[in-house]
Amino acid sequence: MFVNLVMEFRKFNFNLEVKMRKKVIAGNWKMNNDINESQNLVSGIINGLGNDDKCDVIVCPPFTSLNDVNSLIKETQVKLGAQNMYFEESGAYTGEISANMLKAVGCEYVILGHSERRTIFNEIDETINKKIIKATESVLKVIFCIGETLSQREKGTTNDVVRLQLIKGLQDVSEVDLKNIIIAYEPVWAIGTGKTATPEQAQDVHSFIRNLIKENYSSEAAEGIIIQYGGSVNPDNAAELLSQKDIDGALVGGACLKADSFLSIIASV
Ligand code: 13P
Repeated sequence: MFVNLVMEFRKFNFNLEVKMRKKVIAGNWKMNNDINESQNLVSGIINGLGNDDKCDVIVCPPFTSLNDVNSLIKETQVKLGAQNMYFEESGAYTGEISANMLKAVGCEYVILGHSERRTIFNEIDETINKKIIKATESVLKVIFCIGETLSQREKGTTNDVVRLQLIKGLQDVSEVDLKNIIIAYEPVWAIGTGKTATPEQAQDVHSFIRNLIKENYSSEAAEGIIIQYGGSVNPDNAAELLSQKDIDGALVGGACLKADSFLSIIASV
């Protein structure tokens, strides 16, 4: 009887902790949408959302649309994120954007370490780590992306790859700063391919990541951190993915470019 009561209490307590992690749905627009198209898309999202604030919603348009999108989301629950930044404050870095510039244009978030940055633009863990440190110092929240390629998964090295990316990316990041970091697990083979990780595959890696946070920080940090899944999330697969215990949200690419499909992913929370 007593044991049952204790178990019920633990279950209740656990549910309470899990519930405390509000889901976060972010749209990574990548290199899509000029200013006009961006305004149309974000207006569609705002209108469709109404007062629904079951989850946090972030949009990450290209740099050129940040200012105009910011004007439209000001009085709404939608938050603004950028897709990249450089770790220096200012100076002769042609083509780069600083953390303070992003903040000045209304960004609350920045995506860092996306696999497209890693593979197409040769970003390495050390650079990503410098960017994460600069962003958190500048009070920008980070969506930090990690994930394995298909060949790494086939070789059975998924956990090793994810562990290394996580440890290197978060080097010298304090537990206080970790509160401003969302981790996005995005298996590279699932990005833009229509091949989603099964809910079980995703849950396994998410739980592995949460354990890594526990080992390297604390149980409290592990319970609090938001871990999003990204990679071909769409209105048909979102609900099942988001119902997994350790999946706290989604980082959506292709399906966030139409207000309807982004809204139905949000509705599936
Ligand atoms: P897709 O949803 O198009 O697979 O892209 C995912 C992604 O890269 C989000 O950052």
